[in-house]
Amino acid sequence: MIIKNKADLADNDVTDFSIYQDRRQFMKTAAGVGIVAATGLPITQVNAKGVISPYSTDEKLTDYKDITSYCNFYEFGTGKSDPAKNAHTLITSPWTVTVEGECEKPGKYNLEDLLKPVSIEERIYRFRCVEGWSMVIPWMGFPLADLIKRMQPTSKAKYVYFETLHDTKQMPGQKRAVLDWPYTEGLRMDEAMNPLTLMGTGIYGKDLLNQNGAPLRLVVPWKYGFKNIKSIVKIRFAETQPVNSWQKANKHEYGFFSNVNPEVSHPRWSQRKERRIGQFRKIKTQKFNGYGEQVASLYKGMDLKKFY
Ligand code: MTE
Repeated sequence: MIIKNKADLADNDVTDFSIYQDRRQFMKTAAGVGIVAATGLPITQVNAKGVISPYSTDEKLTDYKDITSYCNFYEFGTGKSDPAKNAHTLITSPWTVTVEGECEKPGKYNLEDLLKPVSIEERIYRFRCVEGWSMVIPWMGFPLADLIKRMQPTSKAKYVYFETLHDTKQMPGQKRAVLDWPYTEGLRMDEAMNPLTLMGTGIYGKDLLNQNGAPLRLVVPWKYGFKNIKSIVKIRFAETQPVNSWQKANKHEYGFFSNVNPEVSHPRWSQRKERRIGQFRKIKTQKFNGYGEQVASLYKGMDLKKFY
């Protein structure tokens, strides 16, 4: 099998699903017999340590084309194909992230400074949208916990709040009041610190495309897709539970926790099954999207029908 150097890969090449799958298979075998370091496998920053993340699933990956063309990003329109068509107006460099609230290191950070000390790794996660479709996405990113620790939250910080850019020139969909802009989200501190929670910077070994939330987005695989806020410009450490955009839009349909739960239906969609994009037959949805072992303990004693 030929493993090409990243530098040798044309844009079309790297999007080719079979090459990527082959590479992953090679990685697994190579990691298993401990030869990765010796071969100096050329896969950009991905798996810099030469290890397949224990958190990654080995399910069939969703095609890069589907991940980048079937999107929800209402700042660029409400149709699934709108973001891929319209998100070119978003300027992602330079990019700053304001950190504020209950922490010792507030400030306005250039993205490069924020990323400098982190080690980007690959995580292949299931992704489940509340509308009933799902994907398997090879993310690149780093644990949100690493960033949080650097910002030194105070003992008052119980929640983390996130905000997307608000700029009608760059995000023309914000001219329409489909949501109360900017898009906002939040996590409880223990959810934010869970090792599964990532700040996403790429997909399939490449930087995020604008339609997928470049240059920085949240990835929380046991929650419905809408928790995965895109193009983040603000992070705030808060004492009280933030209200997210979808809760604000309709609190009967959307809650704060939004954990994937086949036992609790959305008023308009049963959550028992899902359709993997690219596959025909529906499959059963798993509680916490299959990540119960890692996260069920966070919700011990909570009535998840009430705290949906
Ligand atoms: N973030 C912002 N800023 N705006 C959005 O409209 N949509 C959410 C989430 N993050 C959204 C967002 C929803 S509903 C989903 S399902 C996921 O992004 C979709 O991510 P994807 O398009 O990369 O698959």
